[in-house]
Amino acid sequence: MNWERWQEFLTCTSCRSNLLREDDALRCSSCAATYLIVNGVPHFLNSVRSGYADVYHARSVRTGLRGLFSPSGFFSAATFVDDRQQAGQQNFHGALDRFLKNFSTHDLVVDVGSGSRRLTRDILNVDVEAFPAVDMVAGGDALPFASGAVSGVVLQSVVELAPNPRSFIDEIWRVLKSGGLFFIEAPFVFPRHNGPDNYRWTQEGLASLCCGFVKVESGISIESGSALGAAVFAFGDERFCKWPPILRGPAYASLWMVCSLVRQLDRWPAASDRRSLYGAAYFVGGKS
Ligand SMILES: C[S@@+](CC[C@H](N)C(=O)[O-])C[C@H]1O[C@@H](n2cnc3c(N)ncnc32)[C@H](O)[C@@H]1O
Ligand SMILES: [Zn+2]
Repeated sequence: MNWERWQEFLTCTSCRSNLLREDDALRCSSCAATYLIVNGVPHFLNSVRSGYADVYHARSVRTGLRGLFSPSGFFSAATFVDDRQQAGQQNFHGALDRFLKNFSTHDLVVDVGSGSRRLTRDILNVDVEAFPAVDMVAGGDALPFASGAVSGVVLQSVVELAPNPRSFIDEIWRVLKSGGLFFIEAPFVFPRHNGPDNYRWTQEGLASLCCGFVKVESGISIESGSALGAAVFAFGDERFCKWPPILRGPAYASLWMVCSLVRQLDRWPAASDRRSLYGAAYFVGGKS
């Protein structure tokens, strides 16, 4: 498992002391905390769940055209700027690729809220749900790493779900080493996610959230055509979802075609740099 390589950097989420390896658990060397290793994956959470497992489960059991054309199914709601997604690399794009090129295999790079994707072979996947690609079950606001142990953190489409986003940023700041890098991406004009969802950010808002970091780069990761397409799809979905199957199929097929056309507007560049409509923004910051 990926995490075993980084065992010396793991700490108790309660008292930050070192952890001792036992057969099926990691035990705190100071307090009474014990973290079970279930199917090779250490669990640093006992009960908190994001609700995303239910979303993915519902997605996989859903049948018929609604499943096929739902934003979370066959229909992809957005196209990323410089989209580079491949099988197993959901939501991968040029800015994220540039970010990951900063690290070597000797660096501890963590994808917080990874879901079931794996961006690189060496990345350490952390999520509150034990999805298949997850190396470690933990929350973004209580990471099991020693302060200053981590070289890079990816937080893509996760911070908007947090009840307290500040707690994620503070925790990421804590675990990053001096000179470490942080990639954060969050939606701005984008329909509510199927699971829990709390916030949206402009580019400026994202920079303010990360105000302690030195800006390396920032930009738009989902353009306005995709934002419009996703909004049109959400509008139709909320109206068609309870229709009888015989009407639902053609309705979703038409909606899918309309949204695919609307998304093509991404190719039409905005006339001004002062943007007021886009789907998502990203910010890359360094810890000085
Ligand atoms: C919208 S998905 C994004 C997945 C992935 N980052 C991507 O961009 O494809 C959000 C993910 O964040 C996870 N998540 C939700 N709350 C979390 C928390 N407090 N700490 C860590 N992960 C969390 C969910 O389980 C889910 O896998
Ligand atoms: Zn402890």
